[in-house]
Amino acid sequence: MIVEPAPAKINLALHVRHRRPDGYHELETLFAFATEGDEITLETADADAFDITGPFAAALTPSSIQEREEATNDNLVTRARNAFRELFGITDKYRITLTKNLPIASGIGGGSADAAATLRALARLSNIPLTDQRLTDIAASLGADIPACLTGRTALGTGRGDDLADLTGLAGTPLLLVNPGVAVSTAAVFAGWDGVDRGALPDGDLLTRARAGRNDLEPPASRLAPVIASVRAQLDAASGAILSRMSGSGATCFALFDTATARDAAAADADAQGWWRLATTLA
Ligand code: C5P
Repeated sequence: MIVEPAPAKINLALHVRHRRPDGYHELETLFAFATEGDEITLETADADAFDITGPFAAALTPSSIQEREEATNDNLVTRARNAFRELFGITDKYRITLTKNLPIASGIGGGSADAAATLRALARLSNIPLTDQRLTDIAASLGADIPACLTGRTALGTGRGDDLADLTGLAGTPLLLVNPGVAVSTAAVFAGWDGVDRGALPDGDLLTRARAGRNDLEPPASRLAPVIASVRAQLDAASGAILSRMSGSGATCFALFDTATARDAAAADADAQGWWRLATTLA
């Protein structure tokens, strides 16, 4: 049995440059990963099976946005499996279990990280090197941020976010993720972007670039879910925070801290608000 971590993704910065003819948006984004997240287990079986367990497996309510986005997540795991089998000419059946530790539709990878972990697990089980271009091709065909999740490495993403250039820095930095329990739709947040190009990421080391950057999806996401502004305000005010921002299309916000003690104090403040939070580190 293969146990494959599906680490939470964060966008240290996310600049939207322009809307493309294909409906996607041209991005400049700094991808980084937490040391914790969801988990995929995978083994060969007599018949295909896909089960979801963990704290957010039962978080679905009928007709909610969560359910629709989670259905996409389910689809992404099984679609990754199907695309892998087809491209590599493999006929094996698999039992796949997703342990859902991260809130769904929350801007920290979710289904993308799960799909990427599924591809890595299938590749490992089949002795296919993770550098095989076909894995990247499947990832890009399934979603714009899945290639980044496939490598799990800190990177600058351009294009749809799938042209990747590795970056270094900030590994081991104490990281706090906070989600106020409101799911937002990625497509709806992008659709609310005001169309103003506020400029490129500056040069410099990773922290300098991240701090000088922004998340252009924060205003439209905050219009859809005003509580995001409250989360941001609390993280901004946290003692020892060196950077706080919303990740992806939200609603999860994150902060980097100079010490684990400062991070844990901010985590307790999030607990006091009744918000979900994960006290972790940057990979
Ligand atoms: O590729 P993925 O399915 O993850 O994207 C979800 C939605 O987010 C897209 O349908 C699109 O509306 C929006 N998106 C975008 N530009 C990007 C990435 C995503 O407009 N670069």
